Amino acid sequence: MEADFWIERWQLNQIGFHQNEVNGFLRRHWPRLGLHSSDRVLVPLCGKSLDLLWLSQLGHEVVGVELSEKALRDFVAENALQAKVYDFHGLCAYHAENMTLLCADLFHMTPSHTEGVRGVYDRAALIALPPEMRLSYAELMQRLLPEGCVYLLVTMDYDQSRMDGPPFSVSDNEVKQLFAHAKSFEILESVDFERKGLKVREKTWLIRF
Ligand SMILES: C[S@@+](CC[C@H](N)C(=O)[O-])C[C@H]1O[C@@H](n2cnc3c(N)ncnc32)[C@H](O)[C@@H]1O
Repeated sequence: MEADFWIERWQLNQIGFHQNEVNGFLRRHWPRLGLHSSDRVLVPLCGKSLDLLWLSQLGHEVVGVELSEKALRDFVAENALQAKVYDFHGLCAYHAENMTLLCADLFHMTPSHTEGVRGVYDRAALIALPPEMRLSYAELMQRLLPEGCVYLLVTMDYDQSRMDGPPFSVSDNEVKQLFAHAKSFEILESVDFERKGLKVREKTWLIRF
């Protein structure tokens, strides 16, 4: 998916992926990561998700990254935050409370942006990307994340020939191949539902690097 696709989505307010409440998988399974409340966490492709606030209210220092400046402006305004815009290791960042939200292409990030990150929350990030970009994304994560990181990942699995993404279908095998360098994989929850007459399985993974 090219940057323009997402920028236009935000401009036209076609953001069906946005949830008006904190994600249930996050609430239920985040404690399983065993992080300290002060640990730094990364939220890739963060949109204006309320999950950012929930994580920061636990005490985490949150690093988000989002292409669309409108998404970040809306996030600040809708949550009545006081934000400062500054340069964070060469990328533009909104800083509000204990959140640093990069307004940038994820693929421009370097390990300087993720220093000290202990956990990752990936909802609608990996599965927002088409197959060829998912490989680059996983390779980037390997470069960005310090050893010992824990990663909460939400995937969807469905018959891709019957529906176009995003969200894209990502199978168990693909998760394991993409993150082949991981130490362990655990499926914490698996939920079946129907979308436009299609069977979809949504899974929450705990991956340890
Ligand atoms: C499907 S949405 C999910 C947003 C958020 N994770 C949530 O749960 O609401 C994907 C988001 O990633 C952003 N995005 C897409 N490609 C990106 C990239 N290369 N770098 C940074 N953000 C990107 C889009 O603008 C969009 O807001």
